[in-house]
Amino acid sequence: MARPRMLTGDRPTGQLHLGHYVGTLKNRIKHQHNYESFFLVADLHMLTTRNRPEDIQGTFENARHLVLDALAAGIEPEAVTFYLQSAVHEIHEMYTLLQNMVTVSRLERVPSLKDMAREANVKMSYGLLGYPVLQAADILCVRSNLVPVGKDNLAHVEIAREIARRFNGTYGNVFPIPESVVGDVPMLVGLDGQEKMSKSLNNAIFLADSPEVVARKVMDMVTDPNRTRADVPGTVEGNPVFIYHDAFNPNLAEVEDLKTRYRAGKVGDVEVKQKLAVAINNMLNPIRERRSLYETPGLVEQILYEGTKKVRAEVKQTLFDMQQAMGLTGVWNHIERKATLHSAFFGG
Ligand code: TRP
Repeated sequence: MARPRMLTGDRPTGQLHLGHYVGTLKNRIKHQHNYESFFLVADLHMLTTRNRPEDIQGTFENARHLVLDALAAGIEPEAVTFYLQSAVHEIHEMYTLLQNMVTVSRLERVPSLKDMAREANVKMSYGLLGYPVLQAADILCVRSNLVPVGKDNLAHVEIAREIARRFNGTYGNVFPIPESVVGDVPMLVGLDGQEKMSKSLNNAIFLADSPEVVARKVMDMVTDPNRTRADVPGTVEGNPVFIYHDAFNPNLAEVEDLKTRYRAGKVGDVEVKQKLAVAINNMLNPIRERRSLYETPGLVEQILYEGTKKVRAEVKQTLFDMQQAMGLTGVWNHIERKATLHSAFFGG
């Protein structure tokens, strides 16, 4: 029996941070052996908000960060097929066919697209509006069953499900209906207390940060603003420092003790933060060690090259099955057959 499939990926816009880690990366690592797994570098998606020549020039460097971060975090190159989205031309073709399976008003109701436009300071382009349809092509091109994503991508997977159902209902069963899965911390707050950790908001701890940088960022974190001194009782709920303790400190007794003392005004912020920095660095240490193993010249290129070739063969088949279900192959076949039968016109 073939294993079910998992597909996931990120735009090559920079390094992965702790928000990615708890939001989706942990799930990707957990499921990589139970599923036949695919990981795409979504450079076409990047173009929806960043398409200046200098953005595009940076694609490989960013793709390298992405693949290295994933490998360092524990994705195994033997288990997961990495590929470059734009090099799988059949995805572009699938995208065109799937565009007719969803309405503009449905896409206009996806809140994350407006957020992306605002954050990137761009207007809503036709391409950005179609972002979830392109993502549906990604998910359906390998007939994925499971899609681990962060919370802001849940609405996109929902659209992929609707598109798959619509296609199957109209033309016959080609696609499984994909399920999404989000991590135990679907959206991690930023170091500054803003709703989400994000590179563009400059409030992130990256998987590649050194122990010193992690310690410095943690010491500068926003905490309970009403707490002016260590002997003032503090609020734990919603406090980013404690949200991180819950997410990253496996020593539950230590976390409970810190919370009790914090509420009672019996511990300073410095101690709470120092313990948090230690916990985060303990978690990142094995990731740092693995990264150094994978930082060999040419390795990422090789992984992407082989993976892209493999996926391309796969997606060709999916595209063919779609075209056949739609009757599109029949149109061309007719033209080809008749043209060769009556080839005299062009002197053939
Ligand atoms: N939209 C994802 C992001 O926020 C990237 C992505 C593109 C993706 N295609 C995908 C994720 C398919 C999961 C499945 O960066």
